[in-house]
Amino acid sequence: MTTIGLIGAGHIGSQLARLAVAHGYDVVISNSRGPETLSALVTELGSTARAASALDAARAGDIVVVSIPLRNYRTVPVEPLIGKVVIDTNNYYPQRDGHIQELDDESTTTSELLQAHLPNSKVVKAFNHIYASELTTHCLPAGGQHRRALAIAGDDPDAKATVANLIDQFGFDTVDAGPLAEGWRIQRDTPGYGPRRTIDELRRDLAVAKRYRDL
Ligand SMILES: NC(=O)c1ccc[n+]([C@@H]2O[C@H](COP(=O)([O-])OP(=O)(O)OC[C@H]3O[C@@H](n4cnc5c(N)ncnc54)[C@H](OP(=O)(O)O)[C@@H]3O)[C@@H](O)[C@H]2O)c1
Repeated sequence: MTTIGLIGAGHIGSQLARLAVAHGYDVVISNSRGPETLSALVTELGSTARAASALDAARAGDIVVVSIPLRNYRTVPVEPLIGKVVIDTNNYYPQRDGHIQELDDESTTTSELLQAHLPNSKVVKAFNHIYASELTTHCLPAGGQHRRALAIAGDDPDAKATVANLIDQFGFDTVDAGPLAEGWRIQRDTPGYGPRRTIDELRRDLAVAKRYRDL
């Protein structure tokens, strides 16, 4: 049985936990305030889910989702995530996260920051450009013509394949945006960030995306 660990249990974390439980995964979910604050969510999720500390969620997960305000990324436990696929849903909002110099000057990208914090994990950027509520309303079985597509980016091909498989199970097609350094193509204010897109539409959006300095 594969366990999905979640660091962050807010809009996105709770929705991904719902999808994971619905597709037969064990779930260990965490937030910053402690497992006792997640009892209502865990009751809703049922017997295959439990709440834990972020450290325990990182230890328990075969695949671990990081879905927290970006400003807190340095608190993500490093050692228990060594060798694991880590899904990064995070976006940069300076008004929420404070200014981060290397994102403001575009010398790196959000998921590269997390990858640098977790040098021996396999970070895959995913689920960052869909509104949380749509994760459970826009999902469709594979094969339909108008299935929504979600972008991924990552430096490890096997990790990307694992995440693409998970996204397919959850009800979405996948478009590979390339390595983590290309993740800016689906950051805030790019064409693909937010709207419902099929594979072809999302590919087009990624191709025409501009960096902030070129807007
Ligand atoms: N909302 C969306 O539709 C959406 C869509 C795509 C991507 N995103 C991105 O995904 C990330 C999460 O967004 P969200 O809307 O789900 O945020 P949110 O609703 O504010 O939830 C954030 C969660 O992270 C937890 N958290 C904060 N700091 C933590 C830490 N140091 N360790 C462990 N858990 C911590 C919070 O726990 P406490 O409540 O206990 O502090 C809370 O459960 C953000 O980077 C956001 O930009 C959001």
